[in-house]
Formats: sequence, C-alpha cells, structure tokens
Amino acid sequence: MAADIGVTGLAVMGRNLARNFARNGFSVAVHNRSRAKTDALVSEFGHEGEFVGSATAEEFVASLSTPRKIVIMVKAGGPTDAVIDELTPLLEPGDILVDGGNAHFADTRRREAALKEKGIHFAGVGISGGEEGALLGPSIMPGGSKESYAALGPLLEKVAAKVDGTPCCVHVGPDGAGHFVKMVHNGIEYADMQLIAESYDLLRQGLGLGAKELAEVFRGWNTGELDSYLIEITAEVLDQVDAATGKAFVDIVLDQAEQKGTGRWTVQTALELGVPISGIAEAVFARSLSGHADQRAAAVNLPGPSGGTVTGARAETLVEDVRLALYASKMVAYAQGFDQIIAASKEYGWDVDLGSTATIWRGGCIIRARFLDRIREAYDESGDLPSLLVAPFFAKALEQAQQAWRRVVTTAVELGVPTPGFASSLAYYDGLRRERLPAALIQGQRDFFGAHTYRRVDREGSFHVDWSGKREENPA
Ligand code: 6PG
Repeated sequence: MAADIGVTGLAVMGRNLARNFARNGFSVAVHNRSRAKTDALVSEFGHEGEFVGSATAEEFVASLSTPRKIVIMVKAGGPTDAVIDELTPLLEPGDILVDGGNAHFADTRRREAALKEKGIHFAGVGISGGEEGALLGPSIMPGGSKESYAALGPLLEKVAAKVDGTPCCVHVGPDGAGHFVKMVHNGIEYADMQLIAESYDLLRQGLGLGAKELAEVFRGWNTGELDSYLIEITAEVLDQVDAATGKAFVDIVLDQAEQKGTGRWTVQTALELGVPISGIAEAVFARSLSGHADQRAAAVNLPGPSGGTVTGARAETLVEDVRLALYASKMVAYAQGFDQIIAASKEYGWDVDLGSTATIWRGGCIIRARFLDRIREAYDESGDLPSLLVAPFFAKALEQAQQAWRRVVTTAVELGVPTPGFASSLAYYDGLRRERLPAALIQGQRDFFGAHTYRRVDREGSFHVDWSGKREENPA
C-alpha cells in the first residue's frame, strides 16, 4: 500500500516527526541520505506504526500515494536546495513538497515560485517545539497554496499539539508566510529568553539569591500570568546541579549565548520592513555581546557599580516588581512581533489572520504561554488593532505593571546590572505613549544640514527653511 506521507532527512527532528505521523495512524515513507538512519528508525520504532523505508530517492517517491506529500527535514540553505533538486525530477504536477526546517522566508518564496512553474506545490512550514514537540505534538505554521493545505492540512492538524481540542496548526498564508511567522516566533523566543535571563540576573545580584532559590521563584511565577514553557524550563535549569563539581549547573556553563540565525533574520527583516522590534533586537544583540569575550575581558575593570544588593523596601518588592517588568516587557515583545507579521502580510499580500496565528502558538512551541489566549481574543475582537498594547486587556495589565517596570529599570541601572530587554521595552512603551517626540528636532536638523524638508503640525505640505540665508520658511 502506498504511503500517506514521506519524510526525508532523519536527524532527530525528522525522525521524531515521522514517528509522530506513524503513531497517528499514517503510513510514513522514510528516507535519509545515508541508509543507516532509515534502517535504524524502522528497526527501532517500527512497532509504533507503519513505516516504509527506502534506500534511494526514486524508491522513496515511488512508495508514496498521489498527490505525494513529502516533508523535507534537512538543514536550511544549501542542503534544502540539494534535496529539492534531487526530488523535483521524480515528482508529478500536483505533488506537494514541504520544507519543515527553519528556512528563511525569502528562500521559501523563491523555491515556491520556481516549483509552481513545474506544477509542484511547495509549502514552507514552520515547526516549533524541539525534539519533544516533533514527537508528541509540535506547533505548526504552514505556508503555501490553499490547494496544498487542503491536502496537507488534515495530516498536519492531526499530529500538531492541541489546546482545548484545537490543533496548534492553521494555514498561515501563501508562499513564505509560514516560515515568516516561524521566524518571528523565534525572534519572540529570543526576547522572552533574554527577559527571563535579565530577571534571573537582577534577582541574583539584587537579592543575593542562589540558583535553587531562584528556581523556586520561577516555579512560583509559572502558576500565574507568566505561566509558560520557557519559565517552566528556567526553573528546571536553575535547579540542576553539576555532577562533576557539585555547583549549580548555571554556574559552570560558559556565559556566551550562541545563535543559529533566526533571531538575526527577524531583526534584519524588521529593519527592511521599517518595524521597530527594539526588544527583540536587544535580545539578539545581548547574545552577540555575550560572545565578545575579548572585549568583555578588557572592559571588566571599567568603573561602575558591581556586587551591590538592594535593601529595605526595595528588597521586599523586588521579586514582584521584576515579575511585573518581565510581564510588561514580554507584552512588548509580542506586540512588536505581531506588528512585524502585519507589515509583512501587507507587503507580500499574505492576509495573515492574527487571531489564529496566536492560536497556533498556544501549545507545542517554545513560546507557548497562557497569555497567548489573550492575544487571540484581542485580535479576534479587533482585527485592525493599531498595537496589541492598546487592546483593553493589555492596556490594563500595563497600567498595573508600569510603575514596577520603572523601578526595576532604575534598580538595574543603579546596581550596574545590564537589562537591555527591560529598558528598551520600557523606552518603546514610553515612545508610543508620548504625545510629542523629539523626532521634530531630528527633522529640523535634517532640514538644516541637508535640506531634507519637514512637515508642519498645522498645515499640509513639505517645507524648508533657508538656514544659510534669511532663515525664512518656503514650501519645498
Ligand atoms: C523551536 C526553536 C527551534 C530552535 C531554535 C534555536 O521553535 O523549536 O525555535 O527552531 O531551537 O532555532 O535557535 P538558536 O540556536 O538561534 O537559539
């Protein structure tokens, strides 16, 4: 019997996704560049469902029912192109190639357009949730044509995570929309992780708490508004003790955060779209700064506060203040991420539904969190919200958090604890709510040195002052 779906690329994500399909009753054709991985999967997990192992791409394609649905689970970039090039001549019009990796959405657009000419659907599908998610139910962000989703959707929805019985998988939009949304997911992931790290750092320094005590704090937070996967695993990581030294695990890990690139793409793309995702950008830059070991070593004795704690009333409220600052800054990260999706959706004509995008992220993915329901509600109530931050639920939460947020940034500055995520999110919030910004002065400067012109608050049109002459204003 021909297989329902194929998976090629059987490293851990591909293998677990293939197992997930099989466990859900689909017959799964499996293929890998080196045969050994295919054989290992079939012999180790064959009992979980129906796998059809193939040695060659030809056999693999021939083992699938039509229209063929093939999920490519290899590294983004060249390896993905190589697999597409190998499979394409073997496919027929109507077949569907799925890229389940973290591809750049521009690559997905290019591939989709090229394959469309051959009558082959190419669906760029963001998959989040790591190894465990792939096996037990990931969050799935499918892009591609409506026709491809009609065939593919039922399978993806079956294997996706479910929250309240609803699959965390909704057709996001055509061509690169799915991978774009996955990229923004990762940008938010970076911001969320940075904010949690700042919370940890500030509480550790400010209150002199140990890793175990901090694990307790995060565990407590996870029972409230901040309930989320990343907070939950933070407690686990902080609780971990290094077997070799008996020290807290977090103290034996080199403090240089790495990145595979999706956070950087998010920021690069935001710059091109003109969307200020400042909190997400700070998270990417903070990782980058951490990796500049030589500069850090050279600067370690520069003057500034170090080692102090807070005392008195400040100390009593610091945990709760940091919780609120984290919550507020997290809202900013999501607001910025959604703004970026809105901008791309307009630019590329994707018509992304924001409420259902929030639904996808409620379960399975790395940024899954209780408050995603609130985001969904906000966009379902008003599809053209100017910013998530002004939706009633968020505006109220910000009202409750904003004073604590300011105290946290002040405390961090006084202690010399770097909190770029908290500080820039707060600056973004204040920037949005400020009636007049000093951008007016910047416009004046631009007009002065470059005759770049400016607009007035009280009249239509563009103007220029004759700065080197009589300083009179003229219409530009
Ligand atoms: C996910 C993750 C996944 C991966 C990140 C790690 O949604 O499952 O985001 O895609 O773990 O890409 O990214 P960095 O290596 O850049 O931290």
